[in-house]
Amino acid sequence: MSSTERRPLSELTEAELETLENELAAEYETIAAKGLGLDLTRGKPSAAQLDLSERLLGLPEPGDHMAGKTDVRNYGGIQGLPELRAIFAELLDVRPEQLYAEDNASLSVMYDLISFALLCGTTDSPRPWIEDQDRKWICLVPGYDRHFAVTEKFGFEMLPVEMGPEGPDMDEVERLAADPSVKGMWAVPIYSNPTGLTLSDHVVERLAKMETGAPDFRVIWDNAYAVHTLVEDFPKVPGVLEAAASAGHPNRFWQVASTSKITFAGAGVAFLAAQEGELAWYGKNAGVRTIGPNKVNQLAHVRFFGDAEGVRQHMQAHREIIAPKFAASREALESRLGGYEVASWTDPEGGYFIDLSVVDGTASEVVSLTAGAGVALTPAGAAYPYGKDPHDRHIRLAPTMPPLEEVTEAIEVVALCTLLAAVRRAQAGKGK
Ligand SMILES: Cc1ncc(COP(=O)(O)O)c(C=O)c1O
Repeated sequence: MSSTERRPLSELTEAELETLENELAAEYETIAAKGLGLDLTRGKPSAAQLDLSERLLGLPEPGDHMAGKTDVRNYGGIQGLPELRAIFAELLDVRPEQLYAEDNASLSVMYDLISFALLCGTTDSPRPWIEDQDRKWICLVPGYDRHFAVTEKFGFEMLPVEMGPEGPDMDEVERLAADPSVKGMWAVPIYSNPTGLTLSDHVVERLAKMETGAPDFRVIWDNAYAVHTLVEDFPKVPGVLEAAASAGHPNRFWQVASTSKITFAGAGVAFLAAQEGELAWYGKNAGVRTIGPNKVNQLAHVRFFGDAEGVRQHMQAHREIIAPKFAASREALESRLGGYEVASWTDPEGGYFIDLSVVDGTASEVVSLTAGAGVALTPAGAAYPYGKDPHDRHIRLAPTMPPLEEVTEAIEVVALCTLLAAVRRAQAGKGK
């Protein structure tokens, strides 16, 4: 049946639903018997993407160990190499003095920022955050599970705010942020995980301007996907440090990024961009636990990219590998689910994920059906604080890592299971 001949499930009679259920269940059993063993769980680069950076393994070449007057083989330089900071400052639209280059994981930088604030207080804190028993944090949902794991670990009560096409409901964010026990907020401004959505200029402006109850409120601005385009153009990176400074809240944004999904996920460079005073605060704390980051790897990245344009060209090579996987995912979802009105999915212009919204109350069932057919998905609810999606609706699809044929095969299974769960739910609704 083509998607144009199909009717919404809600219009099907009990008998029609039963016929459809029988067909889908038979198809499901045939697939399950194959024992596929496919995996769409985590947003990792594929081997072909990692191969794009293979040359890094030979850099810097023997004898090439000076960056200006710095011998990169030695201790020191918590700020990171100026040469690399200059390249990424251009990409993140900050001044090089507003950027530190660190070790390989921006998640570690985020973890450190919150730990330092808890133990020592921020530059604006009357006391360390840990002394406030009642600590809260705004979480845009669906969002990144590892963000939520950090704030959960450190005892913040997490306050979810739903993402819309342009960003969160800012009235709600402002209302929550007026509470002095709300210390901060997670945000992925560009091609967010998992929705692929980008915050509008208007949302960014309101975040920069809003009044907060806590004098030391911080937004962790995780620009993990700033250059990860799936189309020809690159997204405009909002100049949040300037915007916040002009609005009288210069310290509001702690911006992080990394080359994890540019070069090597396990051996890249992470960045922290903030006002100079904030960076000095970070450096004072981080400088106690390290005498400096891996500058050899930073120099390797300088040599590898050359300049910001080198990074852009490299990201276009990534796009050539992964954009077809996103297109194949879209086609597989449309061809199986189109016309039934049982699901919707995001069509991102960048990033690593597709957010599939299924019939309310069926996401967990879809994930378990899919697992039974040999396709592993991120657990339903993972994109919500405490792993609880109140509507049991969202499923995160990560199509970058498997080869193209496997992506298509896996998404076809996801779509089949989405439809099967929806049909069974509709049957239950009709009192079967
Ligand atoms: C939004 C977001 N932030 C951070 C990370 C991890 O970054 P890193 O490898 O720099 O720790 C990811 C990885 O999926 C991500 O989706």
